[in-house]
Amino acid sequence: MFDEEWRKKISINYIQLASFEELAEEDFALLQEAKAILNKAYAPYSNFQVAAVGKLKNGALVAGTNQENASYPVGICAERVLLSTASILHTNEAIETIAITYKNLNGASARPISPCGMCRQSLVEYEQRTNAAIRIILAGETGNIIILNSASDLLPLSFGSADMK
Ligand code: THU
Repeated sequence: MFDEEWRKKISINYIQLASFEELAEEDFALLQEAKAILNKAYAPYSNFQVAAVGKLKNGALVAGTNQENASYPVGICAERVLLSTASILHTNEAIETIAITYKNLNGASARPISPCGMCRQSLVEYEQRTNAAIRIILAGETGNIIILNSASDLLPLSFGSADMK
């Protein structure tokens, strides 16, 4: 319907590693921190535990796990729990890297999961307000690992504060 000159294409860059052994030491350590707090997820409804640990520019680690609710939509993802915690404990401090992992108590966890749409929106806003890209490491219990250099890579054509000026 449209000529070639009207067609645009967006591509994103990411790194895919075959296993944990290929991770840099610091990234491996951050992922281990995330795995260690999976049991702090409150996920009695989905049985799907998610944990996220962020390393801040000041060196501090901040964590989040998913917190569900009997009224399902009230539940909060691990990523947004992390962002809220960082915002309170280390206000306006840039987050350098976030490692996200999960454990599906009903099945396999053999590939990475990626943040939901709502969390992508929150992550991108956090990048914008701190003026710093957040590296994201995604991993299951086993399988491939994905590394993105910025949350904004997960949300092309995003809506943000600049659009409201
Ligand atoms: N969840 C997260 O916490 N982060 C994600 O990236 C994907 C999904 C949670 C929400 C809910 O508690 C459970 O996983 C199942 O969707």
